Amino acid sequence: MAKRKASEIDASEPAFASPEGLENYPARKAYRLLEPGPVVLVSTLDTVGENIKPNLMTMGFHMVIQHEDPPLIGVIIGPWDHSYAALKKNKECVVAIPTVELAEKVVDIGNCSGDESELDKFARFGLTPVKAGKVGAPLVKECMANLECVVEDTKLVSKYNMWVLKVVRGWINPDAKEGKTMHHRGDGTFTLDGEVINLQERMTKWKEYQD
Ligand SMILES: Cc1cc2nc3c(=O)[nH]c(=O)nc-3n(C[C@H](O)[C@H](O)[C@H](O)COP(=O)(O)O)c2cc1C
Repeated sequence: MAKRKASEIDASEPAFASPEGLENYPARKAYRLLEPGPVVLVSTLDTVGENIKPNLMTMGFHMVIQHEDPPLIGVIIGPWDHSYAALKKNKECVVAIPTVELAEKVVDIGNCSGDESELDKFARFGLTPVKAGKVGAPLVKECMANLECVVEDTKLVSKYNMWVLKVVRGWINPDAKEGKTMHHRGDGTFTLDGEVINLQERMTKWKEYQD
């Protein structure tokens, strides 16, 4: 039988369920479906302007790349962010994970820029910069977790604004660790963590990733 592309097969032919009842979704909006991971704050030490000051931005586009040896994550931070210049210069940042209690602040932080020399976002939004262990950028005390990161690879920055970061140290805030993280749906709406279901018994191939 001649091989045909999947798109050439008549939908009525194989025993697939009909798409009736489903609606088309624009491919260009795929990011709205794929983005949901926790929206995060990125802290940098801004040494680019005249004043040295900590800065914050909000980030929804990120991914895990490698579990360990070393732990790597990918983040999209573009030249439209003032943070980009600090990351480029200092090659380090902190990825801080907020919970819903900080929701309005998280959105507002992503809607103003540290390129205004007067603006210290920690002060404006009542967040506490905490000294990190291995990087110059501060942790955000009120967040449930903070990951200190150094730039590992910049090969994809010119094409995709994608930075590969190595996580060099992590912190958990015991007061906030049970909180709900927020997941950006790409349009200013968010979902919150829901019920946890535990399917660890079925993860037979991946026991090494269970505590
Ligand atoms: C919910 C939300 C998610 C965002 N996600 C990203 C992102 O993934 N990458 C990015 O470069 N900018 C993202 N932004 C935009 C930056 O946070 C925004 O440009 C911010 O003003 C940058 O601050 P800065 O100029 O002080 O660095 C996001 C903003 C919001 C509100």
